[in-house]
Amino acid sequence: MSTDKNRKELLRKLSRNLMVSVPMMTVVAVAGFNASSGPGLGLIPSAEAAQGEAEGEAKGEAEGAAKGEGEAESRAEGEAEGRAEGEGEAEGKAEGEAEGEAEGEGVSAKLKKAVRRPEGYTPYQGNVADLRARGEKLFNDTSLSSNGLACATCHANGAGYNATFKNEYPHAVAMGKRDFGMDMVYLDEMVQICMVAPMAAEPLEWGSEELAALTEYSRVQQKEFIDKQ
Ligand code: HEC
Repeated sequence: MSTDKNRKELLRKLSRNLMVSVPMMTVVAVAGFNASSGPGLGLIPSAEAAQGEAEGEAKGEAEGAAKGEGEAESRAEGEAEGRAEGEGEAEGKAEGEAEGEAEGEGVSAKLKKAVRRPEGYTPYQGNVADLRARGEKLFNDTSLSSNGLACATCHANGAGYNATFKNEYPHAVAMGKRDFGMDMVYLDEMVQICMVAPMAAEPLEWGSEELAALTEYSRVQQKEFIDKQ
């Protein structure tokens, strides 16, 4: 499934989803992320690859900007144009990333392992209301990532989720399968996947209060997501 078409479709879908509720920069960041996690490309497995990616990104941005020239001026002129612009930039970025990514080889075995529940794992136990409150703060905290994103950058108001989010955990999630080779993911594993992939950060400590808080808050998100359907 490592086709260019596939990747473009994903980009298009994501930029469409997000266009409505988040600023342009986010779309660029998300598109960039999605491109980098596209089939056959994978995520940043190491610092060296990260550098390669940064260079690729810079180049992609320049290309994207060139393509989007003129469109940038009409940024505020309605959703249709905003969308076209997003796609132009996204594609420029995808190209750049693909180049930068050539050095990396997908998600490393280490990261694949790191997002899976460890053996004998006991989640942190705490007061649910407290965990939710803490989780909401963390969800909006950009310092959790290495790229300036917060969970809420992508997921504010129920954005950025696919239909699988409605299912009871553990369940199959496209990103988990595609990039981490996981047939099923638990909710806390999904939090770790988003920490490691779109947030480009270290996974949270298993058994930590932070992980429990984000997991618990994600449950709140899930309920809102289901209720909205
Ligand atoms: C750059 C954008 C981005 C950021 C930032 C991000 N995510 Fe996600 N997240 C995604 C995408 C894309 C999906 C859909 C994955 C799929 O369905 O294959 C997703 C899916 C999810 C899901 C639902 C998966 C399912 O269908 O069951 C959860 C839960 C989630 N993210 C939690 C988080 C948390 C918690 C954070 C912060 C630590 C976070 N995300 C940060 C892009 C992001």
